[in-house]
Amino acid sequence: MEKLKKTYELTSEQDTRDLAASIAPLVKPGDVICLWGGLGTGKTFFSGALMQRLGVRETVDSPSFVLMKEYHGERFPIFHLDLYRLKSKAEFLDLGITDLIETGLTLIEWPQIAVDVLPKSFLALSLHFCFEAGKRSVELVAGDRFLDYFV
Ligand SMILES: Nc1ncnc2c1ncn2[C@@H]1O[C@H](COP(=O)(O)OP(=O)(O)OP(=O)(O)O)[C@@H](O)[C@H]1O
Ligand SMILES: [Mg+2]
Repeated sequence: MEKLKKTYELTSEQDTRDLAASIAPLVKPGDVICLWGGLGTGKTFFSGALMQRLGVRETVDSPSFVLMKEYHGERFPIFHLDLYRLKSKAEFLDLGITDLIETGLTLIEWPQIAVDVLPKSFLALSLHFCFEAGKRSVELVAGDRFLDYFV
């Protein structure tokens, strides 16, 4: 699958909110956004900003202890996962998310353990946050229909 990579600097939380605002109109049920990046780089912050744009009114907090939380967006549900504490693919499959993917947007923090079992075509957008000289940057990997939006 053809993929496009772009890197953006995120010098403030507002930059991250702006990125989320630009992505929000593009997402559809069935999309999976994998959020890569180390502790505290902003995966949950980005998820909250994106969900706010999708009409979620609840407070978005880290799903690292509950593993998966469902939010009610204006048009479709959003499934927010953090797989940091999972040890196996079987544990991931036990969450039952694969049956739900088609019905909403899925955001996955620490997706490493699940990438093999996620349908490739749904790996539509992958974000990577990192620290660079005190700043954050994000590498966006876009495939499928997302290709057209980030040229
Ligand atoms: N440009 C930025 N983008 C995102 N978050 C930022 C930015 N600048 C500062 N922050 C702060 O950094 C913190 C990021 O925490 P967050 O919980 O989103 O990280 P995380 O990547 O989800 O970590 P974890 O791996 O523990 O789940 C937040 O407190 C947020 O306010
Ligand atoms: Mg987090």
